[in-house]
Amino acid sequence: MIAANIDDYRLLAQRRLPKFLFEYIDGGAFDEVTLRANRRDLQKLRVKQRILRDVSEIKLNSQLFHRDISLPLVLAPVGIAGLNARRGECLAAQVAEEKGIPFCLSTVGTCSMEEVQQATSTDFWYQLYVARDRGLVKELLQRSENLGCKTLILTVDMQVPSARYRDVRSGLAGGSMLRRQFARITQSMIKPAWAWDVGIMGRPHTLGNIAHILGKGAGIDDYWQWMKDNFDPTVTWKDLDFIRENWSGDIIVKGILEADDARSALAAGASGLVVSNHGGRQLDGALSAIRALPAIADAVGDDMAVLMDGGVRTGLDVVRALCLGAKAVLLGRAWVYGLAARKQQGVREVLNIFENEIKVTMALMGCTTLKDLNRELLIIDD
Ligand SMILES: Cc1cc2nc3c(=O)[nH]c(=O)nc-3n(C[C@H](O)[C@H](O)[C@H](O)COP(=O)(O)O)c2cc1C
Repeated sequence: MIAANIDDYRLLAQRRLPKFLFEYIDGGAFDEVTLRANRRDLQKLRVKQRILRDVSEIKLNSQLFHRDISLPLVLAPVGIAGLNARRGECLAAQVAEEKGIPFCLSTVGTCSMEEVQQATSTDFWYQLYVARDRGLVKELLQRSENLGCKTLILTVDMQVPSARYRDVRSGLAGGSMLRRQFARITQSMIKPAWAWDVGIMGRPHTLGNIAHILGKGAGIDDYWQWMKDNFDPTVTWKDLDFIRENWSGDIIVKGILEADDARSALAAGASGLVVSNHGGRQLDGALSAIRALPAIADAVGDDMAVLMDGGVRTGLDVVRALCLGAKAVLLGRAWVYGLAARKQQGVREVLNIFENEIKVTMALMGCTTLKDLNRELLIIDD
């Protein structure tokens, strides 16, 4: 199949990946109501067609956290993304660098921050989960800063991991250890291309940033358990002080859906926020990110950079989010589908699709720069 859009890359990813991995990426929490709402609410937003303006040159560059970016996109932090292709986070970070956009490495990525830094020459963004062990948190912050990272995404919507039933059924997280291992091995055996590229050649399959805590022999079940045991339900706004004391760069709070929380993030010293419901993977029934966005953009005005993610699969979706006040959009599943489907080339193709679609959308809306995008260009009907 020749992939034309992101849905096609999703299908290719499904063909190439073992079931437990595809379901992990693709799935959401509980009944996946919010997962679906992220897409549906984006698609409901119509845009105005405006004609006979000179749109021969469309500029997509802007500034984000003191850095010039050439597209209003960021590759979102995705846990164990490096299992989708051999050393996957490094491959994606290189493409992000090539395209002039930031790559954000997850705390629970497969590649370590040292490996990603070695693979690229632009600074990466780092995403932090506040673990119970504050000594570890401090260490992670120091390590990333020493490697030149200046932008921290602090994810706050995962104080407890949610229930994702696809992971239980697939054998990633459910049943006995024996059943899980049997499921994963048999699913991998029928995907030989993945089994060779990642299963055999892509080792180690660790969570690179915290591998030193669990030791070399740790497998996917040990890590799963570590994550369950180490997410900290006692974290509050006060912990932002601790992060501030140990981090000198920008802090972006990710996982905000309420205007009050946005104001609290601003008061706590964050320079940006991501309107996000974790791609529908945490609180099912929560508002879609695109519906939450306008009230939050209004609440913080120009005092903070407002970013958004959740359900973005087309350049048209990106334009919709920018019209509603986002400075840039994070891509989660989209880049991972590309990586799983066609390795590094897949991530490149996915970003090229976004770039082309943003340009076409803007041209047909009569816009030539990102500054032209505003709410007046949308037709919002419920
Ligand atoms: C498989 C998967 C793993 C994720 N892991 C993380 C993570 O480690 N840290 C984090 O802050 N967000 C994580 N997210 C959420 C993404 O950063 C992002 O918010 C979400 O994917 C956006 O929705 P989209 O996938 O519809 O674009 C993950 C998302 C997916 C799909």
